[in-house]
Amino acid sequence: MSKINNIAVVGAGTMGLGIAQVCALSGYVVKLFDLNEKSLQTAEQKINVNLNKGIEKGKISKQQKSEGLKNLNFTHNFNDLKADLFIEAVVEKLEVKIQLFNQLMENNGDTAIYASNTSSIPLSQIAGKCKFPEKVIGIHFFNPAHIMKLVEIIKPAQADKALIRNTKSFVKSIGKVPILVQDSPGFVVNRVARHFYVESLKVLEDGVADLTTIDALIKNMGFKMGPFELMDLIGVEANYNVTKTMFEQFNFDAKFRPSRIQKAKVDAGLWGRKTGKGFYEYDK
Ligand SMILES: NC(=O)c1ccc[n+]([C@@H]2O[C@H](COP(=O)([O-])OP(=O)(O)OC[C@H]3O[C@@H](n4cnc5c(N)ncnc54)[C@H](O)[C@@H]3O)[C@@H](O)[C@H]2O)c1
Repeated sequence: MSKINNIAVVGAGTMGLGIAQVCALSGYVVKLFDLNEKSLQTAEQKINVNLNKGIEKGKISKQQKSEGLKNLNFTHNFNDLKADLFIEAVVEKLEVKIQLFNQLMENNGDTAIYASNTSSIPLSQIAGKCKFPEKVIGIHFFNPAHIMKLVEIIKPAQADKALIRNTKSFVKSIGKVPILVQDSPGFVVNRVARHFYVESLKVLEDGVADLTTIDALIKNMGFKMGPFELMDLIGVEANYNVTKTMFEQFNFDAKFRPSRIQKAKVDAGLWGRKTGKGFYEYDK
């Protein structure tokens, strides 16, 4: 693998937009792609808001904003996607990710790196169904991607040492902290954090306390956000999909069982901040 210059981020939702922003501000030439034109427009607006907040807080200069934006292109033309590194941040579904990587591999061959931002799907399962399995790796950003420093790098069985080395140095080059972990459902952070959500939903289901009380208690313990606030930030449906994947991947172990309350929110389209309503209501 030669030097990384061009990056394509596939999926311009909650995570993709933040990842594209960080990469463009770090000097990479970035294409942000989505099938859905509306998602691309929203992503452009949100990136602007993020960058303006960064200027207000003194984290970046106006010049960094304008240079970063020059590096960033928005596209919904799949054939535009030529890059040294692909980072996919599409829906948390194994088949969708496999199909996407195979299409990208068809167009870009075996010299690029194909990284997934999956929260929970074992990378070996994705890689195993891809044309170039040795080029697939996990780069797991945390939400909000333009702020959170930690990035889990997940090594599928098929990955070689050069791929890991190049991925680690890329993650460092965008100012993040890469931590290498072995491939397993939910990796480390999401596996441990799953109980933060699952158990809070159970407490709510059991009527022990209402959700604002649960959030308030947890925040008073020193957590930055309560579990319900955090699910709204993550995306209630995104969080639900991760729990569902982990429940299946851990052979239906009851400790990962998804909540009916959360399922009802997903079915009703109450997905949190991105839809204006989830466990709480937000100004659009
Ligand atoms: N939301 C989080 O807090 C979070 C954190 C870490 C990792 N992740 C993971 O990142 C990935 C994306 O999550 P998200 O919350 O950003 O989702 P999201 O629903 O906000 O965005 C997904 C975007 O992908 C687009 N899309 C769907 N299929 C596509 C395809 N085949 N090609 C191109 N675009 C496609 C959708 O139009 C949408 O804009 C998931 O795998 C998720 O598990 C999410």
